[in-house]
Amino acid sequence: MMNHQKQTELILALDCEDRKTALELMEPLQGHLKWVKIGLQMFTAYGLPLVQEIKTMGYNVFLDLKLHDIPNTVAKTILSLSSASIDLLTIHAIGGSEMCAYAVKARDESNPNLKLLAVTVLTSMNQEQMEVLNITKPIQDQVLDLAKMSIDAKVDGIVSSTHELKLLRENLGIGPLIVTPGIRPKGADLDEQKRVMTPSNAKQLGANFIVVGRPIYKSKDPLASVISILDDIR
Ligand code: C5P
Repeated sequence: MMNHQKQTELILALDCEDRKTALELMEPLQGHLKWVKIGLQMFTAYGLPLVQEIKTMGYNVFLDLKLHDIPNTVAKTILSLSSASIDLLTIHAIGGSEMCAYAVKARDESNPNLKLLAVTVLTSMNQEQMEVLNITKPIQDQVLDLAKMSIDAKVDGIVSSTHELKLLRENLGIGPLIVTPGIRPKGADLDEQKRVMTPSNAKQLGANFIVVGRPIYKSKDPLASVISILDDIR
């Protein structure tokens, strides 16, 4: 197996009920965990003030908004996010190469440290649903084509399912960042995730970041879970 990146970072998916639960979860993890992912639900409820609060705690923030709109609107949204100095942000590759390029330009002007990640095909989609959209090529081809288009538009990386890691690394090389959810430590509850991979396997296949939610926040001892995952990827 190939190992393309120096290190793999752990991102906690902060899929919490509310702000208080999220902050209580994060407090004891400070100094161990470096990254958290804030999704559409928490961002819709609490917005930039929560992002800023989490940044002040010392965490790097992955804001998973999966932006998809006309290029101008996506660019303006990125400018609006600049005050929070977020570190990773998702956009939908299906928005097209011009949308990706506008996003990159807005990032360059407002928050050069921000890395942009393209989402290709949602894992909730299957071949049948794609055909209704008149996308008849195999899903893996669609994933790869959208990934290549995004990287050509200077997007920094791709959000990938664990089973596409190998395909993407083989075709995109070592340059692009790859962030992957669908991670379960050995023996952990799968929840509804179907095809999962351990942290160390994802690292070996070239993931720069792994996103882990329930195995940490549902654990009786989230700090112990974080430490054990970090041990696995170091
Ligand atoms: O709790 P769990 O570890 O399954 O959470 C994984 C996180 O990654 C969630 O925030 C989920 O929305 C996200 N995700 C995923 N699978 C995808 C895309 C995103 O699990 N294909």
